[in-house]
Amino acid sequence: MEESNLKVAVLYNLLERLEKGEEKDILAEEAVHEEIGSIEEGVRSQGYQFFVMAVQNEIDPIIHWLKEIRPDVVFNLCESVYGDACMEMNIPALLDLLRIPYTGSPPLTLGLCQDKGKVKDILSSQGILTPRYKIFDREVGSLKGNIFPIIVKPLHEDGSLGISKDSVVYDDESLNRQIRYVIEKYHQPALVEEYIEGRELNVGLMETNGKVGPLPISEIDYSEFPEGIPRICGYEAKWMQESIEYQKSKPVCPAPLEWVMQKRVEHLAIKVFKLFGCRDYARVDMRIDREGKIYILEVNPNPDISPPSGMARAIRVQGMTYSEFIGKVIHKALQRKM
Ligand SMILES: Nc1ncnc2c1ncn2[C@@H]1O[C@H](COP(=O)(O)OP(=O)(O)O)[C@@H](O)[C@H]1O
Ligand SMILES: [Mg+2]
Repeated sequence: MEESNLKVAVLYNLLERLEKGEEKDILAEEAVHEEIGSIEEGVRSQGYQFFVMAVQNEIDPIIHWLKEIRPDVVFNLCESVYGDACMEMNIPALLDLLRIPYTGSPPLTLGLCQDKGKVKDILSSQGILTPRYKIFDREVGSLKGNIFPIIVKPLHEDGSLGISKDSVVYDDESLNRQIRYVIEKYHQPALVEEYIEGRELNVGLMETNGKVGPLPISEIDYSEFPEGIPRICGYEAKWMQESIEYQKSKPVCPAPLEWVMQKRVEHLAIKVFKLFGCRDYARVDMRIDREGKIYILEVNPNPDISPPSGMARAIRVQGMTYSEFIGKVIHKALQRKM
């Protein structure tokens, strides 16, 4: 088939109603809409045909649609299925079974990285620093030792769902309150982590010509954050433009880092990308403590790439247009065509 007749089908997740969590969490679901238009532009600029379909509450229509369209490649934007982030992996698994190549990471990587605890175990096994943690599926009463402050997060979410200023806790009482909150609101265990005070970096990575390379490093600048609010990128800071947390957390790209630190961060991000079998593109989040130790917070094998995202910013800073990025990612997926 002629290159220009290639069919690219975008799959993304869409929910009208959430089964768990907070009302406002739907914002995170909606953000994906914004990016469809830009991706379409990228696809068409390559001369490819563009198709798009939302994965909603049933999988049968998706399978029928794929069989009808017979795309040469799927651009996979699904970050969850049926509102469940743990089912994210099932879309690429389905595409593997249908023998349709797709962009981004394979199911094993997506499934694994959705369990932040397992990710941390693997990192630790390789001598890579990550905040110490415990998982709780019920309240703990009291924790021994002087371990506060602590951050409490849902074990299996993304996009800072269930993370707010209340998530950083300083005593047993608020610790138990947050554990209860995660279990009741998000129907999953709570990941209780050592809180790392320090600079926060996001490292986007791209695989081109068989090599994994870092995009310009991005930093979240919390210097303007009001006193008394923990310096974290919680749900408000990430999604709610009217919030003080959003307005006072500034992404800075490229991050002002000393050369040696920049190299350490990049090296580590590449190592983590490979360790978890990420593919095409991904983002690794880290914190650097006062002593200069680098901790991995999490690995995002299917990060937000919508135009307002940090990934897209890093791509622009690198000097690539959004359409070029989309083109490169599609091209790479097509090389996997059987
Ligand atoms: N151990 C930690 N120490 C300090 N801040 C943290 C820690 N874990 C998470 N955070 C803060 O919370 C934000 C969201 O946490 P993260 O684990 O990345 O969840 P998500 O997958 O929802 O993005 C981070 O960007 C960071 O600001
Ligand atoms: Mg994160």
